[in-house]
Amino acid sequence: MRVLRETRFAGLAPAARGKVRDIYDLGDKLLIVATDRLSAFDVILPTPIPDKGRVLTQLSLFWFTLWKDVIPNHVSSAIEFPAPFDKFKDDLAGRSMVVQKTQPLPIECVVRGYVSGSGWKDYRTTGRICGIRLPAGLRESDRLPEPIFTPATKAPTGHDENISFEYATSLLGKELAEKVRAVSLELYLRAAAYAEPRGVILAVTKFEFGLLNNQLIWIDEALTPDSSRFWPAAQYSPGGPQASFDKQFVRDYLERMQWPKTPPGPELPPEVVEATRAKYREAYRILAGRELD
Ligand SMILES: Nc1ncnc2c1ncn2[C@@H]1O[C@H](COP(=O)(O)OP(=O)(O)OP(=O)(O)O)[C@@H](O)[C@H]1O
Ligand SMILES: [Mg+2]
Repeated sequence: MRVLRETRFAGLAPAARGKVRDIYDLGDKLLIVATDRLSAFDVILPTPIPDKGRVLTQLSLFWFTLWKDVIPNHVSSAIEFPAPFDKFKDDLAGRSMVVQKTQPLPIECVVRGYVSGSGWKDYRTTGRICGIRLPAGLRESDRLPEPIFTPATKAPTGHDENISFEYATSLLGKELAEKVRAVSLELYLRAAAYAEPRGVILAVTKFEFGLLNNQLIWIDEALTPDSSRFWPAAQYSPGGPQASFDKQFVRDYLERMQWPKTPPGPELPPEVVEATRAKYREAYRILAGRELD
């Protein structure tokens, strides 16, 4: 399997490059290619992580299929790629999907079962997350009494901003806002219940949805280490930040070398790459229940 930091197909320019994925416009469809790029502290590092792109894509496909009864998803094919992309199967296989192009909703549908990240910051200063009042005395990384829907704006650059459900309603309309909240909470509850006996806490995750012919579709990536905070349950210890399942070796290394967390990011040594690769593969093995082949 090839390691791929950036797709470069002669004469074909991606419509967009995210931090991790390269996206090609196919007219009524999109080709989404998960590369092996890794970002830490919001900076894309120069060193790719072998297998990372395949883990993201295969894990997304796993969840999309598992819960197709809850909501239809955007996947059209992850095996066949239309011309001229069929010529690049060595680069695309396993890491790419052709998806229905939808009209993406203008919010990120975040669900939190635990207080962490921007949720912890908001809670500490206001006692609330996205306007939802929470019990007093929660510690960082504590479990919430029940999962909450905490939408965020999609900022084209920089950081997404947490918004209230009322504000989400003003963007989407009441009916659609209530529907995406219900679907997001349902998917979170199912995924958290699925992960728990496997020794993994799903602390926070982000879903995206789009509309196609007035139908709500689950788009983007699904319950991957990049869109979620997964914590190993065995080391769970509230009262501070938790070790992230996937990027901990990278973060630890970057902290040790006292990199200022501004671009450019440093190259990663082989042992950090290998340990991180193993973590991504482990996440896939635990959650999908089989080895990444
Ligand atoms: N089926 C779809 N229809 C339309 N747009 C989609 C679909 N699936 C994903 N998208 C959009 O494609 C984009 C994926 O980009 P990607 O996540 O790689 O980069 P980004 O969100 O710009 O940046 P980041 O790296 O911070 O995530 C998102 O804007 C997402 O909403
Ligand atoms: Mg994104």
